[in-house]
Amino acid sequence: MTHNTTTNPRLEFFDSIADQWDGWHDLADLSRNLNAVLDKLSIDPSATVVDAGCGTGNLTVSLLNGTLGPSGRVVAVDISAKMLDLARNKVTDPRVAWHCAAAEQLPLDDGTADHVICFSAWPHFHDAAAVTREFRRVLRTGGSLHILHLISRSQVNRIHAQAHPSVHHDILAPASEIAKLLETHGFRVINMTDDDRCYWITAHKLG
Ligand SMILES: C[S@@+](CC[C@H](N)C(=O)[O-])C[C@H]1O[C@@H](n2cnc3c(N)ncnc32)[C@H](O)[C@@H]1O
Repeated sequence: MTHNTTTNPRLEFFDSIADQWDGWHDLADLSRNLNAVLDKLSIDPSATVVDAGCGTGNLTVSLLNGTLGPSGRVVAVDISAKMLDLARNKVTDPRVAWHCAAAEQLPLDDGTADHVICFSAWPHFHDAAAVTREFRRVLRTGGSLHILHLISRSQVNRIHAQAHPSVHHDILAPASEIAKLLETHGFRVINMTDDDRCYWITAHKLG
């Protein structure tokens, strides 16, 4: 499914950095760190997981290689066609479906996802309430939403403040603030870490 994302001012920026993105990371180290976190998320090997704001697909790679079994699925979405081109070239595993789509309008039926993971992507979703409603729509009751950054909130906000103007205002709010938003939209927050090493919220969809 293709979604019209031309009105999002971040799109041009993310397209422009797509070729450099993987070079800015130590992918082996990232994979180790992601696998360590994924091991704690209680993801069933047959789960359907949404990678929201998947970029070049590094979270998806970890899900496919370490977490999911043969019947597991990843639905990976991003507004940047350039990021997705790189992801598709990197990962040809049939368990993943790549979609050029916005987190605000996911290409999934109601209640069909077990988990939604936003890895280094949440602050770029400019309408957090709309995105939260959309995540709730696609999750099954009891399914979980994870908002994850492997660096501190202050580091995230410093990086955005120094990057392209289109992301200057993409501020990662304190976890307690996001938790309130999630709880007013039908989630129960079961974990909240917002310290000098990482930022991680887990919330379950209530029935
Ligand atoms: C900082 S990058 C992180 C990419 C990837 N998750 C990673 O950590 O390697 C943020 C990604 O979110 C995407 N993005 C921004 N706003 C989005 C939206 N509303 N819906 C879907 N993707 C979005 C961008 O195109 C970009 O690829």
